[in-house]
Amino acid sequence: MNPIRPMTRDRLPELLRAMPKAELHIHIEGSLEPELIFALAQRNGIDMAYSSVAELRQAYAFTNLQSFLDIYYAGASVLITEQDFYDMAYAYFVKAAGDNVVHAELFFDPQTHTARGVSIDTVIRGLYRACVDAYAKLGVSGSLIRCFLRHLSEQEAFETLEQALPYRDKIVGIGLDSGEVGNPPEKFARVFARCRELGFHLVAHAGEEGPPAYVWTALDVLKVERIDHGVQSSKDAALMQRLASDRIALTVCPLSNLKLCVFPDLASHNLKQLLDAGLAATVNSDDPAYFGGYMNDNFTQTFAATGLQAQHAYTLARNSFEASFIEASAKRRYIDQLDACFATFA
Ligand code: ADE
Ligand code: ZN
Repeated sequence: MNPIRPMTRDRLPELLRAMPKAELHIHIEGSLEPELIFALAQRNGIDMAYSSVAELRQAYAFTNLQSFLDIYYAGASVLITEQDFYDMAYAYFVKAAGDNVVHAELFFDPQTHTARGVSIDTVIRGLYRACVDAYAKLGVSGSLIRCFLRHLSEQEAFETLEQALPYRDKIVGIGLDSGEVGNPPEKFARVFARCRELGFHLVAHAGEEGPPAYVWTALDVLKVERIDHGVQSSKDAALMQRLASDRIALTVCPLSNLKLCVFPDLASHNLKQLLDAGLAATVNSDDPAYFGGYMNDNFTQTFAATGLQAQHAYTLARNSFEASFIEASAKRRYIDQLDACFATFA
């Protein structure tokens, strides 16, 4: 049965909000809302460079990725205790549940915290406990992907990998994030090879601001299973073919791309072009506290601006489950829920 029937456009936002979906690209430190930054700063006796939540929010005017990262790393510096990491992640899961996100794979940046003297045990214990509680209390399953900061060296990535090995069973995958241009994937060839031997799933940010060449090396050198962002791939026809034929998922983040000036406006976003070319694109929020919206904001605003329709919504949600790192039986169950949801809108 094809669950997708024609639908009036005015029911589309309702469908986008109601459909079950997975989030595969969320930096948990990027879910830290200004209110929580101030609350944690107070709890931990940290002086803030901003006098109010409103003043901090006003600083969220970015011109490119680096202008955002500077503020994002400063915001993360209020995270000190295991409870801080728990509170941040649980607050995200509450928002996710409200958006009918039924599964989320959370990126975290251990080096941002260990560089400030916070132990990796504190970070992972807090995040993992939030994942356990989110499943028990909200019915949202969550898993953790630890990222290497690509502006740091490969040697430092090896060191942080070593520190987290006792927590191997609590981490599903390895990612690569931070300033892209000038830090190509191949800089991390050996550490990714080691992570692969250790049995982790592999992903990397590539083609966010950087060129299609970075997407090629993420695939061919790092051997990643998904590309985070990847929107610059549309500049390279051979790469588009490769991504489509190998069913490599792209975790696209439209509001992030808008706020970081990757596209001048949402109407110019290439999500439809990627889907029309047969790529396994998904929609995600990246750093929702900084970019003006969580999952359903990304879906509703992008659909309104680009003219995407119900069949695209189905494809995007289905792709999110198929590209996730959950067991085949759970994927099947979520896709059945998705079909059931679409049937109610027929
Ligand atoms: N870290 C947090 N958000 C990021 C993004 N959009 N790109 C690269 N690194 C990030
Ligand atoms: Zn990202």
